[in-house]
Amino acid sequence: MTRILGIETSCDETSAAVLTGSGDEVRLESLVILSQDVHRVFGGVVPEIASRQHLVSLLPVVDRALADARTTLEGIDAIAVTHAPGLVGALLVGVATAKGLAIARGLPLVGVHHMEGHLFATSLEHADAVPPFIALLVSGGHTLLLDVPAWGEYVPLGATRDDAAGEAFDKAAKLLGLPYPGGRHIEAHAKDGDPARFRFTRPMLRRDQRPGDDHYYDVSFSGLKTAVLHAVRESQDTIDSIRPHVARGFQDALVETLATKVARAVRACRRPRVVLGGGVACNRALVAGIEAACGPHVTVHAPTPRIATDNAAMIARAGLWRFERGERASLDLACHAGLPIPGLVTDAR
Ligand code: KG4
Ligand code: ZN
Repeated sequence: MTRILGIETSCDETSAAVLTGSGDEVRLESLVILSQDVHRVFGGVVPEIASRQHLVSLLPVVDRALADARTTLEGIDAIAVTHAPGLVGALLVGVATAKGLAIARGLPLVGVHHMEGHLFATSLEHADAVPPFIALLVSGGHTLLLDVPAWGEYVPLGATRDDAAGEAFDKAAKLLGLPYPGGRHIEAHAKDGDPARFRFTRPMLRRDQRPGDDHYYDVSFSGLKTAVLHAVRESQDTIDSIRPHVARGFQDALVETLATKVARAVRACRRPRVVLGGGVACNRALVAGIEAACGPHVTVHAPTPRIATDNAAMIARAGLWRFERGERASLDLACHAGLPIPGLVTDAR
């Protein structure tokens, strides 16, 4: 049994968690997430402000996570920290803090890739959300479709050619005059929308696509965003009166595209389950769309909002797996704004 402290500061959430376990048998003892509300004023994350806020909050957040787990650093066996990808200044605060704690206490350190954290996150709530599965990671910065035959083996199937799914939600929300981050606001407004009022073209989705085609698994959302822009500009009605209908049209197009591509992956790789991760996995219409596209024999596991969005529990969980494999970061562990997820298997197909 290992008790691991997780630290996450890659974007605008300052988070720490304590997790105990071995293999896939784990117990989350505490999770503290401090969301930096300040960025709302600017309509997007301001990197320098994010770093400064992490600097102020991280140690109190770590203390709180330890206290909630009724332990201290003495009771911790290892520290896992997000070191990529993300805002470099923000990552640096987490990594420097983790290194400091590791040196001071003589603890081993494990560097975790943020997207691998999202892959492991759902298993914290659904014991069956373990490989083999098809994963769809949909966050503010990434859209990745992967086949996961085993932990640490990630076969890339598709990705976005331009905007990430969350970014598309946030941009569409902005065009509709909704607050940042806009995903959950679009979802809420879309509930009252008429699906027939605005039917946007499904991006990169054609029935004649075949496995091996460039577009079979990839997605693209920038055209959809432009379609929303034109719909808003060209409408004779007020923005207030069309908002739910445009939100619905946008969400339906995005969901159908992602759901179709996930269903293709499930069929091609013959996986019994789909695991969703990242902030957009909170979207119930997306989950329902994927369930409908995959059919009754496929289980779709989606995390709750607390575990779907950025948090340190998922970093501790992925870190525990890497720690048990014997991985240790040295004290020159570097931060990277962009870094491929470790364990990519690129020659499998
Ligand atoms: O994973 P995450 O917390 O942060 C990143 O690593 O990017 O994802 C944040 C993204 C934002 O773009 C936000 O608008 C989106 O997740 N999001 C949603 C919903 N809740 C959060 N998108 C669609 N529907 C939601 N309910
Ligand atoms: Zn994330």
